[in-house]
Amino acid sequence: MTASPFDTILPSFGEKESADGRTDDKEMADSSDDDQRQKPHAILIPYPLQGHVIPAVHLAVKLASRGFTVTFLNTHSVHHQISRAHHNDPTDDIFAAVRRQRSLDIRYSTLSDGLPLSFDRSLHHDQFMASLLHVFSAHVEEAVGRIVGSPDSRRVRFLVADTFFVWPSTVARKFGLAYVSFWTEPALVFSLYYHMDLLRINGHFDCQSANCRDDPIDYIPGIKAIEPKDMASYLQDTDTSSVCHQIISSSFKDVKSADFIICNTVEELEPETISALKAVQPFYSIGPIVPEGASKGTVATSLWAESDCTQWLNTRPRGSVLYVSFGSYAHTSRADLAEIAHGLRLSGVSFVWVMRPDIVSSEEADPLPDGYKDSLGGGSIIVTWCSQFEVLAHAAVGGFLTHCGWNSIIESMWNGVPLICFPLLTDQFTNRKLVVHDWKAGINLTERREITREEVAEKVRRLMNGDSGGLFRDNIREVKKKLAGALMPDGSSVRNMDQFVNDLTNKIDQRGSGTGGLNPNG
Ligand code: UDX
Repeated sequence: MTASPFDTILPSFGEKESADGRTDDKEMADSSDDDQRQKPHAILIPYPLQGHVIPAVHLAVKLASRGFTVTFLNTHSVHHQISRAHHNDPTDDIFAAVRRQRSLDIRYSTLSDGLPLSFDRSLHHDQFMASLLHVFSAHVEEAVGRIVGSPDSRRVRFLVADTFFVWPSTVARKFGLAYVSFWTEPALVFSLYYHMDLLRINGHFDCQSANCRDDPIDYIPGIKAIEPKDMASYLQDTDTSSVCHQIISSSFKDVKSADFIICNTVEELEPETISALKAVQPFYSIGPIVPEGASKGTVATSLWAESDCTQWLNTRPRGSVLYVSFGSYAHTSRADLAEIAHGLRLSGVSFVWVMRPDIVSSEEADPLPDGYKDSLGGGSIIVTWCSQFEVLAHAAVGGFLTHCGWNSIIESMWNGVPLICFPLLTDQFTNRKLVVHDWKAGINLTERREITREEVAEKVRRLMNGDSGGLFRDNIREVKKKLAGALMPDGSSVRNMDQFVNDLTNKIDQRGSGTGGLNPNG
């Protein structure tokens, strides 16, 4: 690996893996010049899932572009998956190109999530989550301690960590860092989790099904009224003892101690919700957090190998192709997949369908109906993974059948592509409500739980060909304008980012002047 002034902390790939799959991090000597020594240094830790790593990488670039030094910590597992997907040498640093091209001070390191590299985290989801809940913090403390103890530790002043982690305030306090919580979903979802106790007291959450209220929730500050069916799936569950519930409950206690919360949303999209949150904690909407510049960005982030769809898309008429993807995390049933498959073919619309290898389960290699792929000829394509950002930006793409992950919605809005919504899990139900009900930028795939091929075909035709398709396109163009406006020099997100940087720097200065440097007790 070539040395650069910024290669201060490098991943320790190539070191022998221990029995539990851990490798230890290694630091290299810091050779930053004096000027860079003055910039505050952030440690940024994304949740080790695709939909969290992507916006965290773009955030790291954003912060570094503002003059901060950033040390980005991926888990060994995420790093190795990215290396494999991109055919990179496992010792490659994913930020090397952006650091070189833009002279940014981003360093990169990795740490264990507590499980061996070979462990199938998708198949054993709850064990993975339990490891993040109970074990990961010990590895984080060790890694942060090592970075803070390095020769330029004076500059390590803040921790940026995903809101879903349960330990950031403890770790930040231990090392005298300011804690910035990074929320990758809409403010509406944040607010519902934040007010979990209110939901519980009012009988909308954590109730026995017979006693649960099903009327609209109208008592949360900044939220007009929301149907229980539009809450995140975890808030609709009657069994609230799962590991995910424990994570949500602990992380939303922890976030109340955050010094700052930054959110990948836009003020103009959720004004009341955001202003109510700002009244209780420093909350900054700085989205959309998308790669800077027109293309997908120069940092490798995909966990699966990307197929290049561009050549095929170049052969299709403008706005004629439906893009279909259900994101990186949730699973669908084989039966639903079959209905969707038949419905797409019945619609007569061309499509690019991302069929993640574990979409049903990593133990089900080919979940589509027999002979389905062959029956498509060249009229539509199915790929394992793609550069979604590039596909949505292509002129041939005219609609998106999505599970409503927040990144997918943002990327679709950014490119003015209307949506058909098929939420599967977590925040996706609330995100659908925003798209369909509030912004009228798309339609539901179904109003019920079961889907039929006829309904799929009808919705696809309606979005792609029908008159109402034009209406959704007009509406999403309006939303697109809000997103683009927020990133203009005087736009709300740019102003919020300025304010955040200002407030954060003041906080760091106050702490610094009060203690002469780091205050291990916060
Ligand atoms: C989940 C949550 O639902 C989401 O709201 C949260 O913010 C992250 O975790 P996920 O399934 O990861 O969602 O979906 P999404 O948020 O849409 O993120 C998926 C990311 O993977 C997007 O940035 C998308 O561009 C990318 N992607 C997806 C690809 O690059 N290629 C693909 O083929 C499919």
